[in-house]
Amino acid sequence: MKIGIVGGTGEIGEGLAMRLAPRHDVVIGSREAEKASASSTECMGILRGRGTPCVLRGVTNQEAVDHGEVVILAIPFTHLAATVSALTGMEKKVVISPVNPMQRSDIFFFDPPPEGSAALLLQKLLPPGTRICTAFNNVAANRWRALDQTLDYSVAVCGDDAGARQVVRGVVESVPNLKAFDAGPLRVSPMIEAITPLLLNIARHSKMKDVGIQFR
Ligand SMILES: NC(=O)c1ccc[n+]([C@@H]2O[C@H](COP(=O)([O-])OP(=O)(O)OC[C@H]3O[C@@H](n4cnc5c(N)ncnc54)[C@H](OP(=O)(O)O)[C@@H]3O)[C@@H](O)[C@H]2O)c1
Repeated sequence: MKIGIVGGTGEIGEGLAMRLAPRHDVVIGSREAEKASASSTECMGILRGRGTPCVLRGVTNQEAVDHGEVVILAIPFTHLAATVSALTGMEKKVVISPVNPMQRSDIFFFDPPPEGSAALLLQKLLPPGTRICTAFNNVAANRWRALDQTLDYSVAVCGDDAGARQVVRGVVESVPNLKAFDAGPLRVSPMIEAITPLLLNIARHSKMKDVGIQFR
């Protein structure tokens, strides 16, 4: 599968790239092609050092969209609208949002836009026909990047196109030990995004690291 990661130079973007590259044709996108190249070189070096040589390319965010049959938007919520408004060609692509709009005061809390969630805002911003799904919202970036550690988490996938949900579940389960669960239409996305601040509050108060979820 061809996968383009917009904002692929970030915390979760690099982790996703390294976990997906052994099984897919992945490019890392950035606002700056040079930054993406440096990031892809570093990630390839890490993979090569582990005996898993893979090809990763660093490209602009627009080139990541052009490349991907599946496009992952690994961008902080505050920059999401401006970023996707400047990109073209999303229609008919499967677009994955791992984006969680949240804030921190004395606690971490879900802070969605008026549309109800980041994914529902994307539905308003992206062209009709874009096949938007949520996935990976509740898996900590530290765990993605710690390649020695098993990603034994559950991933809730929602979206209005059943075929796209199936494609995304395939991408999720191409990562060893990750288990995908079909959560239904995109209207479920506020519930999925809101789990992450809960996990962070648990991590903080229970003195745990990389708290995640397993549905069973
Ligand atoms: N971190 C986690 O543990 C985690 C877990 C689950 C879900 N998520 C979600 O995943 C998304 C990415 O999180 P992250 O921690 O990976 O974010 P991040 O590292 O802070 O940023 C990701 C990338 O966003 C780009 N970016 C930064 N400022 C920007 C701006 N003003 N305009 C456009 N692009 C900008 C940067 O890429 P360039 O400078 O290369 O353009 C950066 O590398 C978030 O929505 C978050 O809620 C994160």
